[in-house]
Amino acid sequence: MSASKSLRHAAARADVPAEVLAELHPGQSVALLQALHILTRDGRLNQDSRRKLKQVNHLLQFIEPLLQQALDARGDVTLVDHGAGKSYLGFLLYDRFLAARPVGAVWGVEARVELVERSAALAQRLGFARMHFVAATVRDAMATLPTDVDVVTALHACDTATDDALDFALQRQARAIVVVPCCQAEVAAALRRHKALQLARTPLAELWRHPLHTREFGSQVTNVLRCLRLEASGYDVTVTELVGWEHSMKNELIIARRTGRRKRSAAERLQRMLDELGLAELRPRFAVA
Ligand SMILES: C[S@@+](CC[C@H](N)C(=O)[O-])C[C@H]1O[C@@H](n2cnc3c(N)ncnc32)[C@H](O)[C@@H]1O
Repeated sequence: MSASKSLRHAAARADVPAEVLAELHPGQSVALLQALHILTRDGRLNQDSRRKLKQVNHLLQFIEPLLQQALDARGDVTLVDHGAGKSYLGFLLYDRFLAARPVGAVWGVEARVELVERSAALAQRLGFARMHFVAATVRDAMATLPTDVDVVTALHACDTATDDALDFALQRQARAIVVVPCCQAEVAAALRRHKALQLARTPLAELWRHPLHTREFGSQVTNVLRCLRLEASGYDVTVTELVGWEHSMKNELIIARRTGRRKRSAAERLQRMLDELGLAELRPRFAVA
């Protein structure tokens, strides 16, 4: 069904079962959730949609104060969501935070053209005029995106797309960065290649005896290096768990807020970790801004 049809057929809030309403935020648009196929036509949630809604609503609680801070500081706000997929985050955020305000924009960057076309058509039907989409990789989209960017998000953006999103955020000196990284294969591959030569004769060599351990250790190391990179580049960093992602190991939520104070100790530890784990070739990937 087209989005306009699904909007016309939207169940009224009163028709939505009470247990489903309890999972929505106050005022959250039932029509929008149906257009995104999160709610069915009769206002129900299947298990996958329930999980997705819970995740995105949970994230919005962290993101909305960051948007408000930008609005307070400069009277406008721009968020760029990298690896946007179907743009659930962008749509729910626009509906809850931007639709009733005269300013503010959300940009979704997504490599799959068909997803971008679908999202752009839905935004147009909904009248979400300050939602914009770029069909490109994170790296290729950089030149197209606005100069003033307040918040950068990347949720499960595959492999090194999270690092490209961090490059973008650091380059634009974004006020805040919110990422939930996906698996990253690059560090694990380098660990396997070099087997952390300095540690090869120590019991720590056990960490890369089994490929599965190397992969998981590589993911962990990647996120530690990302956090050090952000701290060394002038950000305060918090790391927590994202709820509703119980089925996945990839539930680490990294939130960074720009302070402008570059932590020298973080820069030093970043370089030492790269050296001691035999990852010196990845210095450009974790370059401090
Ligand atoms: C697992 S999905 C997550 C989608 C969305 N962020 C969410 O949480 O629902 C990852 C998305 O990132 C996109 N993607 C992967 N690598 C990318 C890149 N380098 N540049 C832009 N998009 C990318 C994929 O096409 C996919 O739609």
